[in-house]
Amino acid sequence: MVTDETAMRPAVRETYGPADLSGAPIFAGGFINFGYWQAIDLDGALGQVERVRSQEDLYRHVLDAVGLEEKGKLLEVGCGLGMGCALALREYGPATVTGLDIHPEQLRRARGAQADLLRSEPGRLRFVQGAAERMTLADGRFDAVISVEAAQHFPDLGAFAAEAARVLRPGGRVAVASFFTVDDAPGRPAELAELLETFASGLDIARPVTALTDAFTAAGLSQDVRAE
Ligand SMILES: C[S@@+](CC[C@H](N)C(=O)[O-])C[C@H]1O[C@@H](n2cnc3c(N)ncnc32)[C@H](O)[C@@H]1O
Repeated sequence: MVTDETAMRPAVRETYGPADLSGAPIFAGGFINFGYWQAIDLDGALGQVERVRSQEDLYRHVLDAVGLEEKGKLLEVGCGLGMGCALALREYGPATVTGLDIHPEQLRRARGAQADLLRSEPGRLRFVQGAAERMTLADGRFDAVISVEAAQHFPDLGAFAAEAARVLRPGGRVAVASFFTVDDAPGRPAELAELLETFASGLDIARPVTALTDAFTAAGLSQDVRAE
């Protein structure tokens, strides 16, 4: 039998394994996203405080977009160390938050980083292993699905979209923040590979943003599919 772990691409296994990308200073101690800098004065001093704020703001932007309501059930796909799951729990009052990640090391780190919340909010937060393309979760369980700076790693956006649609209740919503090319001009992947080592190494996969919106439309999430 093929398990989710054996389906992991080698670049993902290595990056989020013993190398522990989250330990890099650029990620400010736990988030592994580049953040949303809209509300931050880029002419002022930029340090750890601003970086963490940008990372939290990215999650707030995505959670606002998905319309997570109090008492809702949230799933994050590619949750990393669970920093966004914790923020959602603290600030949005959902009934439950589930963080799913393909990498067992990341889940171990998440359970450590969020040990206090796991203890103080029993049953409201949990971390499960699974691939975006094959989630180990029941049908129709969630009101909202988010994914933050993880979909650039997913090899099959169609399978991810189909799985997101499957685990959402009817009328549920999904919001994704990730790296895409602005169009499907043939030179775009090479341009990105020049700019970012993670595209050059194959860790990140360059695709046009329409690959994601088309995948969601094909999965039946047809109301108001849009890219920002
Ligand atoms: C850049 S980190 C982002 C973590 C978190 N969302 C954040 O913003 O702090 C990407 C995460 O996606 C996970 N991941 C990569 N490929 C995946 C897949 N196919 N299915 C589920 N998770 C995956 C990695 O293990 C890693 O924890």
